[in-house]
Amino acid sequence: MTKPPLLVTCGLPYTNGPCHLGHLRTYVPADCYVRYMRRTGEEVVFVSGSDNHGTPIVVSAEEQGTTPRALSEKYHKHFDETFKRIGVVFDHFGMTDDPANHHRTQEIMERLVKNGYVYKQVVHQAYCPKCKRFLPDRYVEGTCPYCGKQARGDECDQGCGKHLEPGEIKDPVCKVCGTKAEFRDQEHYFFRLSAFKDYLLPYLDKLRGTSNAKNYAIGWIKEELHDWCITRTLEWGVKFPGRDDLVVYVWVDAPIGYIAFTEEWAAKNGKDWRRYWCGDNRVTHFIGGDIIYHHCIFWPGILHGAGYGEPYAVVASGMVKVDDHKFSKSRGYVVWTNEDYLDKGLPADYLRYYLLAYTSHTKELNFSWKVFGERINNEVVNIFGNFLYRTLFFAHKEFGGVPAGTVDPAILAEIEKCQKSVDDQMQAYEFKGAVDTVMALAAFGNTYIQTNAPWKLIKTDRAAAAQVIKNSIQIAKALSLLIEPVMPVKAQESWAQLGYTDKVAAHRVDEGVVIVPERQVPTPAPLFARLEEKQIAELDAVLQTRVHDADKKTEKTPMISIDDFSKVEMKTGKVLAAEAIPKSSKLLKLQVDVGGETRQVVSGIAQFYKPEELVGKDVVVLTNLAPAKIFGFESNGMILAAGDKASLLMPLNPVEPGTKIR
Ligand code: 2FM
Ligand code: ZN
Repeated sequence: MTKPPLLVTCGLPYTNGPCHLGHLRTYVPADCYVRYMRRTGEEVVFVSGSDNHGTPIVVSAEEQGTTPRALSEKYHKHFDETFKRIGVVFDHFGMTDDPANHHRTQEIMERLVKNGYVYKQVVHQAYCPKCKRFLPDRYVEGTCPYCGKQARGDECDQGCGKHLEPGEIKDPVCKVCGTKAEFRDQEHYFFRLSAFKDYLLPYLDKLRGTSNAKNYAIGWIKEELHDWCITRTLEWGVKFPGRDDLVVYVWVDAPIGYIAFTEEWAAKNGKDWRRYWCGDNRVTHFIGGDIIYHHCIFWPGILHGAGYGEPYAVVASGMVKVDDHKFSKSRGYVVWTNEDYLDKGLPADYLRYYLLAYTSHTKELNFSWKVFGERINNEVVNIFGNFLYRTLFFAHKEFGGVPAGTVDPAILAEIEKCQKSVDDQMQAYEFKGAVDTVMALAAFGNTYIQTNAPWKLIKTDRAAAAQVIKNSIQIAKALSLLIEPVMPVKAQESWAQLGYTDKVAAHRVDEGVVIVPERQVPTPAPLFARLEEKQIAELDAVLQTRVHDADKKTEKTPMISIDDFSKVEMKTGKVLAAEAIPKSSKLLKLQVDVGGETRQVVSGIAQFYKPEELVGKDVVVLTNLAPAKIFGFESNGMILAAGDKASLLMPLNPVEPGTKIR
């Protein structure tokens, strides 16, 4: 029986921020796996797309004064381009807001309703009496009912990590205006996840992929399964069929995007998408370890309930830390793919190598620039690059290329052993093991050429030297073939250095035992450049500055007592005169009546006010500030203003100049 084709997907990035190392930790291994499997002769389709719906995107769009669709298009383009730059090449990269996904999501919802897995229920939903609207998901913050930590409406992000259903959060507060929210009744639709326990246990038992995904999911399923509220009161999203006032929860239409993107790809390529999704399939999801519940419990439940085939494998990556700290954009522990790496001209292949070789796919990856530099220099440059260069250099110099003859069986056996081990590990999603095995072959090559020293042999036995080089070239060929899924650009370069004129990716990974024929090769050049200490220090400095700036931003102003506050004297004042200060674009010199005396105050507001606009205005003045000389003029007090545009504070109702602020 022929195997169904492999369909590989990657967890979809939200379109409200740029690509970072956390994304790459899932995407690069998925791409590596796809490249490898294709080159074993498998039929593979690789799809992903951007995740456009949900409240975080609506909130970000509101903050940026744009629409969720425009924001999504901007970041969609960004991800599409960035993935290509890092060598992650999808057959199709779609958008969850595109018509194919709206259509597929509604079709699946209708099937679930028909099959009795979706039902209506009235829920207590957080509602902001000031904004006069319901507060779905991220529009509300409060306390987690399970662990007591601060949480978002749909997720306990600071504490136990549990998914929260609408109405579950305690002490809800509106994220937009800070008002205490109320609970109000509203009709919503629920997915009967609790009905799937008996189906999910045997399903998970046979689920392939990494053990972390399967084991966590089995653990959760043994606890209780709660039904999920799958609608939200939002404009932005996929409308629930027949309800103009409700959209489906983003976690419903996002995974359905995997199907929609397959449909879009299939339509363009004359294929039938059903072959990938219905019945027996090999859908393999690469995801971050934080969304195992969604992919191993909720998603198979939806698919099964709607009569689709269930995923074949879930491959979940471990967490990413930066300098031993939890990955955090707000705290500065983040490495941006473009800004911090690609835009600095660093090779995509180095980062790919590091991400794949650092640790097992399911373990925590602790990024540091120092370790990055060390591993690239010690492994990629010193072992892999060195072996290739010394082999090709000598071959070119002494023989003009690949000598005639055959390869020693012991060398072919070593290559075959390596190929077999790489294959076992790739099939088991052990990417680090596979890369280490390739590097071990490079180290073997180095030892082989060093021990046999063809540069000495050539003086006494040219044929023996030719044999050593023939053997070494064969190892170099196997290495180029095997390293392509990891470092595609460098693999192609080394392939060309071996005298091949076609694409390395057009060859099977196990062709390393096919003898390289006698031929000329071009003058070789070192394949890899060392990363200099200074360069690494500069990269690290960017990260440290970001962390430092973030610390400053989040530093809390210390509390003061009423006694401390009573030391501050603020009075109302009336501006009597105002003039510009020559040669200063920022300063104005004001004469202010503060009740019985006139103060001269120098104020940095010249960019925002013309002197004449200020005369006659009531203002608030800090009157017991020690006098200072500014631009050569005495300043005796400070005018209070708010924000980047220096909006002046003034009393709401007229008061006498000199009235104390209390
Ligand atoms: O967690 C996330 O970043 C989601 N955007 C992943 C969605 S994956 C899938 F289900 F679509
Ligand atoms: Zn919690």
